[in-house]
Amino acid sequence: MSTGHVGTVELLAGIAGVGRDRARGGYSRHLATPAESDLRDWFAEQAGRRGLDVETDRNGNVWAWWGTPGPDAVVTGSHLDSVPGGGAFDGPLGVASALAAVEDLVARGFAPARPLAVVVFAEEEGGRFGVPCLGSRLLTGDLDADRARGLRDADGVSLAEALTARGDDPSALGPDPERLARVGRFVELHVEQGRALDAPVGIGSAVVAHGRWRLTFTGQGNHAGTTALTDRRDPMIPAAATVLAARRAAARVADARATVGRLVPNPGGTNVIASSVDLWLDVRIPAGEPGPVVEDVLGAARAAADAEGCTVELGRESLSPAVAFDDALAARLAAAVPGAPTLATAAGHDAGVLAAHAPAGMLHVRNPTGISHAPQEHAEDDDVSHGARALADVLAELAR
Ligand code: GLV
Ligand code: MN
Ligand code: MN
Repeated sequence: MSTGHVGTVELLAGIAGVGRDRARGGYSRHLATPAESDLRDWFAEQAGRRGLDVETDRNGNVWAWWGTPGPDAVVTGSHLDSVPGGGAFDGPLGVASALAAVEDLVARGFAPARPLAVVVFAEEEGGRFGVPCLGSRLLTGDLDADRARGLRDADGVSLAEALTARGDDPSALGPDPERLARVGRFVELHVEQGRALDAPVGIGSAVVAHGRWRLTFTGQGNHAGTTALTDRRDPMIPAAATVLAARRAAARVADARATVGRLVPNPGGTNVIASSVDLWLDVRIPAGEPGPVVEDVLGAARAAADAEGCTVELGRESLSPAVAFDDALAARLAAAVPGAPTLATAAGHDAGVLAAHAPAGMLHVRNPTGISHAPQEHAEDDDVSHGARALADVLAELAR
């Protein structure tokens, strides 16, 4: 067997061609698509090669076990899905590093004293069905199964329909307390998604509060040439005002972020005044809750909609409260990775969902540019290797 650090880079190279998005650049690897299915097959094969027993849970999360599945397990892993046009590291780095770390531990002759598992959580990004950490939230019961089944993708396909089409039973979705109870500790390795880490590996301390909201502006669809400006009720006008209001609202609160990364005019024609516009707002805030920022944006959205003779409706797609990772676990990670700095993240993670149910923690691997959720996302091979070794050291410490 090769050593873990060589394995991670090689493993990532093995999936470099899967799910490439020729239109956007980077990767679009969404739930229940051929790309995601290929990645799950790849994971099962790689786990099998390392002697792990693979099972898929009722929510589409894939678990690979070293030893008999049971309580007090040490679990590591991440996700293989991506944002639209995402990078190669967000998610897959944690999965590949976990596989490499297992291989490293086998090569060291390590025998875990408790079960150890590598997990791949489904639809972490919410890239197809909108709700992030879908698989982990269903597992924990933080997301209602009926609501999940009814989520629709951009083409109107429901999650239930997508799962049925790939041969899964959507009625099986739901809390899985027995499987959750096996998780004694969860550690997710992840590429750092900003420029906060100036060392090969860091230890996660927290995830900031964040959430997603959808605003729908409704006006009157009409002809772009024949409709006088004074006669228009164009929902794109309040939508545009809302994009600017989001930036202003975030700027009023220390370190807050508000982003409109997705905006869809319906029906969407160059020579058509839209009849409605859907706009998605992502808000993150390190101290406090996103609510006041969202209210600020909504106030501006309502005023702009009124002025244009349009209406606006707001719906919340997800809310992730602030998470402080388990201190005792973080101390053990720090002991296993001496000198690693500690950092909080403004990115969401399955580890943040798990943290409310079991001691959870994170390792972050340096990102030299800080770019993430974009094709240019990068980590140097040496740092990737360092990360896999650190994860192996952490697993050895936790599973001894
Ligand atoms: C996921 O990476 C998120 O932070 O939205
Ligand atoms: Mn991400
Ligand atoms: Mn991620």
